[in-house]
Parts: sequence; C-alpha cells; structure tokens
Amino acid sequence: MDTITTSHDGEDPVSRMRRLQSERRSRGGDVMAGVLSAYITTPRDTALEAELDGLIDSFLLTQEAASSGTARQVGRLREGRSLTVTGQSGAGKTRTLERHFHRREEFAGYGDPDSDCVLVSVTTPSPCTLRLLGNEILAAIGSPVERRLDENVVWDMVHRNLALRGVRFLHIDELQHVLQSRNPVEIGKVQDTLKRLMQNKDWPVWLILSGLPEIGRFFAQDEQVWRRSRHVVFGDLTLEGDADLVRRLLTDYGKGKAKLTLDGVTDEPFIARLLHAALGRFGIVIEIIQDAIRESLRKETGTLAVTHFADAYKARTGCQPEANVFTAQGDWWLIRPQEGLVREEPQEEDGDEEEDDKPRRGRKSRKAGKSRKTQPRDRRNP
Ligand SMILES: Nc1ncnc2c1ncn2[C@@H]1O[C@H](COP(=O)(O)OP(=O)(O)OP(=O)(O)O)[C@@H](O)[C@H]1O
Ligand SMILES: [Mg+2]
Repeated sequence: MDTITTSHDGEDPVSRMRRLQSERRSRGGDVMAGVLSAYITTPRDTALEAELDGLIDSFLLTQEAASSGTARQVGRLREGRSLTVTGQSGAGKTRTLERHFHRREEFAGYGDPDSDCVLVSVTTPSPCTLRLLGNEILAAIGSPVERRLDENVVWDMVHRNLALRGVRFLHIDELQHVLQSRNPVEIGKVQDTLKRLMQNKDWPVWLILSGLPEIGRFFAQDEQVWRRSRHVVFGDLTLEGDADLVRRLLTDYGKGKAKLTLDGVTDEPFIARLLHAALGRFGIVIEIIQDAIRESLRKETGTLAVTHFADAYKARTGCQPEANVFTAQGDWWLIRPQEGLVREEPQEEDGDEEEDDKPRRGRKSRKAGKSRKTQPRDRRNP
C-alpha cells in the first residue's frame, strides 16, 4: 500500500524533497560537489608514487628469486619491507594513499572484498590490542571471526587467510593507536607480530603503515626491520616554502571549480593567516577553502573573499569575533585555532583578572601564549 501522505498544498514528501534538492542545487550544490571531490596533485604524490614503485619492485624481486630457485642465496631479500607514511592529523595521508591505491593497476580491485586485489587496508582499532588488530585484518579480508578467540589463534588465522586470499601488501592506517596503549608489553607484541608478518618464510607480507609522526619510529628499535623500511613524510606547510602551493589551491578550487572571483585572498598576509588557521596542515587548508567557498555560494556574491573565510573559521571553531584568525587585529598569530571552543575558565586565586573589554581567548590560550615551549609559531617571521 502506498503510505505517502500529501501535504496541505498537494505536494507529497518525495516531490517536496525533489523540489528542495533542485533549489539547493541551483544555489550551488552541484558546484560544491565538484569542489569537494576534486583532488589536487602535489610533489608529495610524486614522492609517494616513487616509494610505492620501490615497494612493488622489492616484492617482484623476491618473486623472481623464488621462481629462479635462488631464494636460498638471496637470504633476507625474501622478506617483506615496510613503507611508513607519516604526518600530523589533517596532513592528507589517508586521502592520498587511497587515491594512489585506487589508481594503480597493480592494485586493481582495491576496496572490493570480492576481488583478488593483492592489497588490503585496515584502520587500527582504538584502543588497540594485538587480538583486536588481528580481528580487524580478518574482517577486511572477508574472514571475520564471530567468537572471542585467543590472540595466537587470531594471528594464525591472519597468516593463513592472507595467503589464501593472495594478499601481499597490507596497509594499516592510524597505527599510532598501537603506541597509545599504556601497556608496553602489548606494544611490543604488535611490533613483533608485524615483523613476523614481513619475515614469514611461506608468505611474507609488505607493509604500508600510516599515521601520526611517532609511527616513523615504530620499528626503530629493530635494526633488521628498520633498515628495510622507507619513509614518506607529509610535513606541515610553511609560508616560506608553500605560499605558491596555497595560492594554487585557492585558484584551483575558487576560480577553477567554483567559478568565483578571488578577492584579496592570494596575497601573502592572507595566506599567512590561512596557514595559521589550518595549523599548516595541507588537508585542513583545503577544507577551510572548501568551507569558505560554501559560504560564498550560499551568499551568492560571486567572489571568494576574506569574510567567507572568517565565517568558515567561526563555524569550525566556534570562536569569538576578536579571536577569529582571519579578522583579528594585532597578534593574531598567538591565537590557537585548536582552542577555538575554549571559553573563559573560572578565575583563579592568583588575582590574574581579565578586564571585560579585553579580547577573550580563554585563560589557557593566554598562558600558552606566554610560555616559550608552547608558543605558536609566527608564520610571518620564521
Ligand atoms: N590531495 C588532496 N586533494 C584534495 N583534498 C585532499 C587532498 N589531500 C587531503 N585532502 C583532504 O584533506 C582532508 C584531510 O585529509 P586526510 O583525512 O587524508 O588527513 P589525514 O592525514 O589522514 O588525517 P588524520 O591523521 O586525522 O587521519 C580531507 O578532507 C581530505 O579529503
Ligand atoms: Mg587519516
């Protein structure tokens, strides 16, 4: 039976949704879809591509050695290698890796559990134990475990099923969750187990590990593995080194994708503020530009201007107007974007009172601003 009820103006709910969708689209929804899906290629892609080439080459070398019967002579060559991709949160690690995995012919079928793709990705559970990580891998390769099994059993199954499924490359994202365990024994167990995955005689696996900078040292204590590891670092952007790249992002997204006129957002002082607002993270710069474009499309001004960035930043951080990195007067570089939502804390007994008409950035921010150790970097004066 058709249960659709008609509204009093004769428009049924689905028709209403269609009408609202087309109104939304005419206000820029289609443009926004293009802005959100666009991928920007940078020199990082070239570096990552070269390292993925190297990882695949090292795998093929072991295959050649095995098929020519020289496996015994090549010794450690038979073992898998690892590639770490590190960077701060929002640097763009996950999106960039996914893009490369989907585009490489060697990894055809990536993401499809029914394919014979040689690469599988998992995200490290949080909190992470050896058993939970094993379960995650089993689920990703289509052999989920229903019961709570002992970690040794789980990892036996991982070894067996990786071979059965023909998986040669294992990508583990957010690996820092392992290091966040308060139990050093558990961390050691994961390190040993991943090492054994690479050194397995019958079915060695090549690892791609991504996460926060600390995972660059994941195998640092183990020289055997350490010397067989390569690293790609997605560093923070700086005004000195990356102003042109940020300008390109503004132009590609603002002009190219959204067909807006850029108004006062390509000069260095503005780019310095944008970098500060985004903590220098490549992906956050992109997200703020996307948010600012959404603001501009909503207001139908036809331009992309500072005010749209200020609105986007306000929505992102919940900051007070005087603490908005894009419009603040004076020492805007002392604003801590991560603390946008921090409000005034109760007064402490030291009598360090703040007058009502002074800018409110929260006690924490002011104190952090005074501290040498935590003082945010002034991106204008390196
Ligand atoms: N080359 C790119 N082109 C377009 N958008 C990108 C690109 N790289 C990253 N992004 C976007 O930047 C944002 C952050 O990227 P991503 O989630 O990959 O960061 P991350 O380094 O994995 O962060 P986290 O450590 O928090 O997981 C996402 O919105 C992503 O779509
Ligand atoms: Mg990520």
